[in-house]
Amino acid sequence: MNKCLICKTEFEPFMTFGQMPIANGFLKKEQFTSEYFFEMEVGCCPACNMFQLINQPDREQMFNENYAFFSGTSKLMGEHFKAFAESVKDDFFKDSNDPFVVEIGSNDGIMLRNFAEWDIRHLGVEPSANVAAVARSKGINTIVEFFDKACAEKIIAENGHADAFIAANVMCHIPYMHSIVEGIKTLLKPNGIAMFEDPYLGKVIEQTTFDQIYDEHVFLFSALSVSKLFAMHDMELIDVKPQVTHGGSMRYILANKGMHKVSPVVGKLISREQELGLDKAETFLAFKNNCEDFRKNLTALIKQIRGTGSKIAGYAATSKSTTIINYCGITAEDIDYICDTTPIKQGKFSPGAHIPVTAHEAFQLDYPEYALLFGYNHSKEIMAKEQGFMDAGGKWIVYVPEVKVI
Ligand code: SAH
Ligand code: TMP
Ligand code: ZN
Repeated sequence: MNKCLICKTEFEPFMTFGQMPIANGFLKKEQFTSEYFFEMEVGCCPACNMFQLINQPDREQMFNENYAFFSGTSKLMGEHFKAFAESVKDDFFKDSNDPFVVEIGSNDGIMLRNFAEWDIRHLGVEPSANVAAVARSKGINTIVEFFDKACAEKIIAENGHADAFIAANVMCHIPYMHSIVEGIKTLLKPNGIAMFEDPYLGKVIEQTTFDQIYDEHVFLFSALSVSKLFAMHDMELIDVKPQVTHGGSMRYILANKGMHKVSPVVGKLISREQELGLDKAETFLAFKNNCEDFRKNLTALIKQIRGTGSKIAGYAATSKSTTIINYCGITAEDIDYICDTTPIKQGKFSPGAHIPVTAHEAFQLDYPEYALLFGYNHSKEIMAKEQGFMDAGGKWIVYVPEVKVI
């Protein structure tokens, strides 16, 4: 029996995706034989409704000086985080004459650069040394550490308490959640605000975007699970704001109990989640069936296209694509290469399936007939950039919200 990472209730996983590699573990040929795999099983706790991975690789295995994900590769995400930073400044810093904001998982500084520009006291906590170095080189205050309660105490000793704690696409990465929430509570002033956004479980269930499940994503949150988790630390969910990023995310705003007004949208979202069945076992069994159908549909489409002799390239070597590729059994026979704009990924091979990753130019210099859009969460930006591919008769294979050719 597995024990819930949040409330210790025992429950059975509802599904396994099989042996999976590290999603961002792009590797060289000589590393193939020592590649790390883990059994990717998932379950949803019947008591606290937290959707979670059953096994997690050690954190240093994923977040280190070779971390392959640089936030700044997307222009639109830059705009998104600018708007996020503006909302923090406008909504929560009005009454403070010297506000202090702490961001965890600050990566290359894509969000904090705004606070730095506005001369607002800020600190990034980022354990992956290579991406943190990029932030530092731009004058963004960053410490290379894993955030937890001890780290929060260190920050307070050096900087005082914070007005705001912010995080994007990182809370869902951290299994030791109680130490994080205690760290947030310790770090914040009594009336301080915590805000974080992550891929939203409701969207994953609705759209069968199971590619949100990979080693780094220990949890997929919902308002149901987040409110129960923070209630264990005498904090409450005061607002929620749906986001279009990463195929559908949710921003959660939290505060110490009784310190801020609770928006009526919180209760509404929780009711909607109950209607959607995010607290029911049968929902996850239906999701499992949907994942299996997805696999059948995508592999059949690829087989049919390859049968005609057409070439398929993968577009964007996203971390999410690692789950799609390995769960569906896609190989280098099916897709010739995956192009990606991130230099650290280029010239390497994709985790697990070992499909070559090339620079974006390889795609533009010799268009294939089809491109499998792994970077669907960036589709607006990518489509705008790739008019030439479409003009040349190129077709996209997409799989959200359904598998099809466009
Ligand atoms: N916020 C950025 C980066 C998300 S990637 C964005 O949304 O684009 C997740 C980041 O969290 C990585 O840079 C990783 O190194 C970092 N991270 C992982 N565990 C962490 C922890 N315990 N504390 C702080 N950062 C962490
Ligand atoms: P993400 O889905 O985890 O945000 O990862 C995005 C990946 O997509 C990253 O490796 C960069 C790549 N990418 C491209 O190759 N071309 C693009 O135009 C965009 C926006 C991203
Ligand atoms: Zn639980």
